[in-house]
Amino acid sequence: MKVVEWLGDRVRILDQTKLPHEEVYLELSDYPSIASAIVELKIRGAPAIGVVAGYGIALGVQKIETSSKEEFLEKFQDVVGTIAATRPTARNLFWTIDWMQKVVAGGQDIGQIKQALVEEAIKIHSEGVEADEKLSQHGAGLIQDNFTILTHCNTGALATGGYGTALGVIKKAEEQGKNIKVLVTETRPLLQGARLTTWELKKTNIPYRLITDSMAGYFMSLEKVNCVIVGADRIAANGDTANKIGTYSLAVLAKENGIPFYVAAPTTTIDLSLASGDEIPIEQRSPDEVTHIQGVSIAPEGTQAQNPTFDITPYRYITAIITERGIMQEPYGDGLRVIA
Ligand code: MRU
Repeated sequence: MKVVEWLGDRVRILDQTKLPHEEVYLELSDYPSIASAIVELKIRGAPAIGVVAGYGIALGVQKIETSSKEEFLEKFQDVVGTIAATRPTARNLFWTIDWMQKVVAGGQDIGQIKQALVEEAIKIHSEGVEADEKLSQHGAGLIQDNFTILTHCNTGALATGGYGTALGVIKKAEEQGKNIKVLVTETRPLLQGARLTTWELKKTNIPYRLITDSMAGYFMSLEKVNCVIVGADRIAANGDTANKIGTYSLAVLAKENGIPFYVAAPTTTIDLSLASGDEIPIEQRSPDEVTHIQGVSIAPEGTQAQNPTFDITPYRYITAIITERGIMQEPYGDGLRVIA
């Protein structure tokens, strides 16, 4: 399964809005269509957004026709602005943009910069794949044989363009021969758990059961959950973590029930410029995603709804943060500063 593939002059993505019933690939050759694909969640998950953003910027600059460096830089900022305006919470998106800005600032002539941006986009992708592999390896050490693991949203290959983060840890533990069972929360409103995590787990043959988000407390209270593992969209300098809406509730429930709560993310998700989760921007999406399921209305016409896409889990609920550079526990501030 190739979730994101660079084809030299365009990028190919698996359209996640069509899963699990249809496997449709899209070929995108310009940056506005890449920005739209990100906004519409055709490609999603913070690390995968970071990867595709790199390819989007690289493609965008190829089409800038000018010999004036000043004009080139202006048009480069237009490309970056469009890509940056897609998903505000995903730290990896802005990490990619910062990287690309540095490449341009350090570049010589326009031709060399154009070439360098393609090379760097490919590098961001391959380093992401490596990070997934390493963090999954580290995290698998926390998983014992016969564990039942609860996970939220989708954090697998679909969300990273590599091996996955939280789901990568689960897959790695299973590859090591451990007997693992997974509880998958459906993840309203857009059902990333029900549509995407189940689809990935089915392919790997890891046993899983789908539950609604509101069933999580019931299963935790029955002592049928050994740990919770989730991904992250952004981790602040103190360890507070933004992730898919509903993550905070799961963390509080885990603490109440004495269940370890792990966050798995590459270091590109860490944002040391923000002191705490209070400063993390939370994406607000259309209320229609709440009043409708897969386009079908479920509420009376005119119903007001709210749709914050992520919530913040305070660091004190997080047992450990798993990254490609190691596993950290409280106090997170020191550890995050060293590894990020
Ligand atoms: O809105 P989404 O589907 O992009 O949200 C994704 C998540 O919340 C993931 O948990 C997070 O990006 C980490 S993915 C490895």
